[in-house]
Amino acid sequence: MSTFVKGLEGVVAAQTEMSFIDGQQGILEYVGIPIGELSEKSTFEETVYLLWNRRLPKKDELAQFQRELRSRYYLPAGMANRLMALPMKAEPMHVLRTMVSALSMHDEHPDANDVESARIKSLFILARAPAIIAHFDRYRRGLHLIEPDPSLSFAANFLYMLNGEKPTPTMERAFDICMILHADHGLNNSTFAARVIISTMSDVYSALTGALGSLRGPLHGGANEGVMKMLNEIPSIDAVEDYVKGKLERKEKIMGFGHRVYKTRDPRALALKKLAAQLAKDTGNEELYIKSSRIEEIMEREVAAKGIYPNVDFYSATTYHCIGLRLDLFTPMFAMSRLGGWSGHIIEQLHDNRLFRPKAEYIGPHNAPYIPMDQR
Ligand code: CMC
Repeated sequence: MSTFVKGLEGVVAAQTEMSFIDGQQGILEYVGIPIGELSEKSTFEETVYLLWNRRLPKKDELAQFQRELRSRYYLPAGMANRLMALPMKAEPMHVLRTMVSALSMHDEHPDANDVESARIKSLFILARAPAIIAHFDRYRRGLHLIEPDPSLSFAANFLYMLNGEKPTPTMERAFDICMILHADHGLNNSTFAARVIISTMSDVYSALTGALGSLRGPLHGGANEGVMKMLNEIPSIDAVEDYVKGKLERKEKIMGFGHRVYKTRDPRALALKKLAAQLAKDTGNEELYIKSSRIEEIMEREVAAKGIYPNVDFYSATTYHCIGLRLDLFTPMFAMSRLGGWSGHIIEQLHDNRLFRPKAEYIGPHNAPYIPMDQR
């Protein structure tokens, strides 16, 4: 195995029992269950149990898992003050990455890497991510912080801490579906980053911090914010055609389209499109939805032959906007959900670890002379 593959395209670098992707047929399954069915029938909490245990929980197992997760919603003492000492203009993804790293200093045994310790650390981090994001957002808006409510689901607790009021069942369900759809996706860049880091037997905090750094890039989880910026930039539905064609002519990418693995429709985008259509109608954001579907039609006509279709980020922008989230919280929402997937992969890696250590193909000179300073 000494062939260089740019971007590791097609290289199999790990085995997983969590998600299966068929990019030609547009199939995504979590532990064998099609994502469309899960997003209709499951909850985010049940989905995390499924990913971590590779099976659906029985009723009492789910109740126990919910108790374990919800009892950990609270931030450690002093952390809320630390959040409120951060610059108000900080980008929430930088805040989340920094605070996940900081949580390690509130753990008496941050380096414990046996599988059960990794599971408990993952639970703590997943449970606390909503408070980190919601507290920071309220602090920068000059609002008082809302304590978590352990009687609420993961999705409802986040929206409650963010908005100061409990979400309607429709909003809670919509947000929960977004969490399910983003939870895991094979060996994507950030998941790979998490597995690479834990493979050195570093620690769960470092692995998740690295994954957060990877996710925020505009070619990965940062694309959902790019989509919203693009929708805001297009002044009207009538302006969509010229805008998209202009970008394609200049060889610029349309955010929320294309995928390294899917060469057909991303099944998550199909589910999110349905959700976005309903929410846009319910919240008076029809123009946003129509603009999005217009972009999709034009892209289908212009570039579908190259296998470029909407990905998970495209309709999640409209969905998050309709849920009432500020633009720079879109990527943290992806991150909050994907913490579940990354943790499952860390646990999987720890089960049967081998250090990741690929090679680089050296393409520089050999036996080069050392030129003295005054002759360079
Ligand atoms: N708009 C227009 N053209 C595109 C796009 C796009 N969004 N994506 C790919 N292409 C074209 C690209 O210009 C290239 O054309 P050509 O062969 O003529 O030079 C061809 O398709 C192959 O593109 P690539 O960038 O080499 O393909 P890749 O497998 O490296 O890229 C990607 C995958 C996701 C980075 C890319 O499609 C992209 O940059 N999309 C926009 C950003 C985005 O939406 N990212 C979210 C990805 S899904 C969620 C996640 O992973 O977080």
